[in-house]
Amino acid sequence: MSRLDTPENARWRQTARDIAEKVIRPLSKKYDELQEYPWEIKDALAEAGLMGVWIPKEYGGQAGETPVLDLCIVVEEISRADPAIGVLYAVNALGSFPILVGGTDEQKKRFLPEIAAGRKLVAFCLSEKTAGSDAQGLKVRAIKDGEETWSIHGEKKWTTNGGAADIYTVFAVTDPTSRSRRISAFLVEKDMEGFSIGKVEDKMGIRAVPVVETVFDGVKVGNDRLLGGRPGMGFRHAMMTLDRARPGVAAQGVGCAQGALELATVYAMRRQQFGKSISGFQMVQEMLANMSTKTEAARQLVYYCARQLDAGLDNTTLVAAQAKLYATDVSMEVTTDAVQIFGGYGYMRDYPIEKLMRDAKITQIYEGTNQIQRLVVARGLLKEAENLTHLNAYIPEEHQEVYEE
Ligand code: CAA
Repeated sequence: MSRLDTPENARWRQTARDIAEKVIRPLSKKYDELQEYPWEIKDALAEAGLMGVWIPKEYGGQAGETPVLDLCIVVEEISRADPAIGVLYAVNALGSFPILVGGTDEQKKRFLPEIAAGRKLVAFCLSEKTAGSDAQGLKVRAIKDGEETWSIHGEKKWTTNGGAADIYTVFAVTDPTSRSRRISAFLVEKDMEGFSIGKVEDKMGIRAVPVVETVFDGVKVGNDRLLGGRPGMGFRHAMMTLDRARPGVAAQGVGCAQGALELATVYAMRRQQFGKSISGFQMVQEMLANMSTKTEAARQLVYYCARQLDAGLDNTTLVAAQAKLYATDVSMEVTTDAVQIFGGYGYMRDYPIEKLMRDAKITQIYEGTNQIQRLVVARGLLKEAENLTHLNAYIPEEHQEVYEE
């Protein structure tokens, strides 16, 4: 339990930890092997009220003073037992944030209560075969085919939760001639004509949650499903969503690292070599100490970012990218070191540690690769440097012209 948790943070942490230990951890191996959606786990999360953590009370949720921090705490606690369930849960926040940041009041009232109650699951359809990092390069089209109606055509890639989800937040090109108002978002439901699931991916990690292609073959939607009620806002809504959702991926990284650290520590105390447990060897101790320090630093960056979002501060894009890239890089390092501590056993499927290394890898890739996060951080830094012109006086004369260009 974090000593800085508020009573509300502590309550969500304890609720998530109880489910993680009693329900999720015992079923983790089964669903990793089956690669099937674990409905029994989703039901336990919904029954505990966890699907409403980030949704305001006026829209049927349970959000308190610090909804983003509470979301991160829950994702971390779940991921500590099983990072695949961490994303299975968090992807509902990713899919519903566009409604929260860009939806009309009518859309919020119509869709959010069902999501908050866990009766409906939601997915986020942004990426396509040829539009991953370049999210503006979408090809899926929504064509206005009547006064109040649109039809959506094309295919989306990497839809996490696809097939399980009832609601799909779909980003599509509505004005190919515009540079900045090209894209709009639509709320599509699974039983709509023309919507189907394409290829179901066979994945290295996060195997309990489905990742699929989603197909839109002339799906007809009314203006009431155009997010925010006016076209052209889609890219902005997607970026605002990712600013809020990336701390959740970061929290998945922290939980995964913490889970690996704990298993590696317990194993190091039990594993005997050269007549004593390997936890007594300084090289192993050094690894454990570094793993623990990096995990804690990542956790504090994630919480700091979440608190900024909860305080409604502007310009959280940079810190969200920092949290995502740092925590997920740490997760990959810590899980790799944990496998090393387990030695040959760590490489084997009947030990629990190799799964965490497989699950960690995707966190460096999805919701913006860590290369894209570095690009976002660097752009933010260069922008902030515009306020550092007083330092110009300390740059030798020969570089003055270059600086001013
Ligand atoms: N908040 C609000 N608006 C923003 C914004 C933000 N964080 N970032 C950019 N914008 C606005 C800009 O102000 C600009 O607006 P104007 O045109 O009105 O001036 C517009 O958006 C375009 O911005 P950029 O010129 O910066 O856009 P870009 O093409 O250079 O792209 C990028 C920037 C950071 C590379 C962006 O494309 C990006 O984040 N790419 C990665 C996408 C991503 O994360 N995909 C993962 C999808 S989810 C997933 O992984 C699947 C899953 O289910 C888990």
